[in-house]
Amino acid sequence: MKYYRNFLAIFLLTIAITISCTNEKKEKTLNEDQAQQTINPNVDSELSILMRNMFDEAKAIKKQVKNGEQITVKLNHEEILTAHATDPDEAASPEYKAFANLYLQSLKNLKSAKSDELVNFYSVMVENCMACHKVFCPGPLDRIRKLK
Ligand code: HEC
Repeated sequence: MKYYRNFLAIFLLTIAITISCTNEKKEKTLNEDQAQQTINPNVDSELSILMRNMFDEAKAIKKQVKNGEQITVKLNHEEILTAHATDPDEAASPEYKAFANLYLQSLKNLKSAKSDELVNFYSVMVENCMACHKVFCPGPLDRIRKLK
């Protein structure tokens, strides 16, 4: 009986996490253009839209690093500190801000990296995406890990 209760608790927690901070199913069934068109401001927070763009940008940077090209950063990543989140209290917490600042610092390091440091600094940046996600939003972790 005890095991069953634990199982149930984990199951419910998983559902709660999936609902609160991911839209995995929709993303998998639509290509990026379609996903852009179906963004609904009542469902997708500013922060989740920013995150999706960050994911796409990281994918592009990964390719540039692999090809030894100059990396391009077009998004304003500072917005992770101010964009409206599905759970605003979470995003206002000191822990979230600390993870956000670590991430922003790792992006800064990547932008100013010498060519022989790019692979390492890119990898550190993705680690910082994951560090925050482990605490605040585990749903997309598998997808983020693939950015490495
Ligand atoms: C400081 C914490 C933090 C950092 C750093 C961070 N994320 Fe997120 N991410 C979140 C939170 C919180 C959400 C949920 C947003 C919401 O629902 O409002 C999220 C959501 C997402 C999503 C799901 C978006 C959707 O479809 O709803 C993806 C994908 C994602 N992040 C990728 C990344 C990538 C890639 C990086 C690094 C380049 C990154 N994140 C860095 C906290 C973070």
